[in-house]
Amino acid sequence: MPFDADLVSERLPRRMLLWLEETDSTMLDAARLASAGCPSGTVVGAERQTAGQGRLGRSWHSEKESGLYFSVVLRVALPPEQTPVVTLAIGLAVAEAVTEVSGLAVDLRWPNDVMAGDRKICGILIEQHHQALVCGIGLNVNHESFPEPIAATATSLRLATGRAQNRESLLAAILEAIDRHVDLLETQGKSAVLRLFTRASSYAAGRRVLVEQSGAVLRGTTAGLDENGFLLLDEDGGARTVILAGGVRPES
Ligand code: BTN
Repeated sequence: MPFDADLVSERLPRRMLLWLEETDSTMLDAARLASAGCPSGTVVGAERQTAGQGRLGRSWHSEKESGLYFSVVLRVALPPEQTPVVTLAIGLAVAEAVTEVSGLAVDLRWPNDVMAGDRKICGILIEQHHQALVCGIGLNVNHESFPEPIAATATSLRLATGRAQNRESLLAAILEAIDRHVDLLETQGKSAVLRLFTRASSYAAGRRVLVEQSGAVLRGTTAGLDENGFLLLDEDGGARTVILAGGVRPES
């Protein structure tokens, strides 16, 4: 079913929201809007992306009318070194909204994948553009299947809950949750977000994982987050390593 952006605008009347039939990547559209000085909270989404971007140079599968593919421009009153914590806050917001609307209990895989069990339902990509952060969110909502090579690792809300989900309710709930979590970060500081993330994520501490980092694979047990939101890993060899970026997956 086509997305009805008017339903979202009725619920969030002050929000600047652009919804496109097709684009290459909403990251590029949002970066242009950010450079042109759009207000914080501006959203650009698309029914389909022809060049959807993922983290670590990957692409994002953007099947027409099945998911939510959108980017939010945020102008936050935070020092740049706190950007990793914004990433965690956005993941928390998406997880909270997904559970509120669909009833599905979800997990967070550091830094910001939203998981249904061991499968990914949402990816988040954050880029800095001048004074703004562009937060790209790809949520698999009503997909009935996925192509190789992600068929074994991705799922959608429809597949995980057994019923089609309303994309307009999900988008409105996610945007409201982002506002609440960014406000929490600005008013109460990063430790409030780090506490929530540690509670919500089974990956934050005590989890056996493999971490891919610039060609190498580290193996160990997660040991919490440091004060900047980076993941601590107790490597099997005995060293404690701070993971700044990279793909984390469960040891299996
Ligand atoms: C990841 O690799 O997990 C991050 C995926 C981010 C995908 C979203 S879809 C909307 C926005 N536009 C893009 O091109 N990417 C992000």
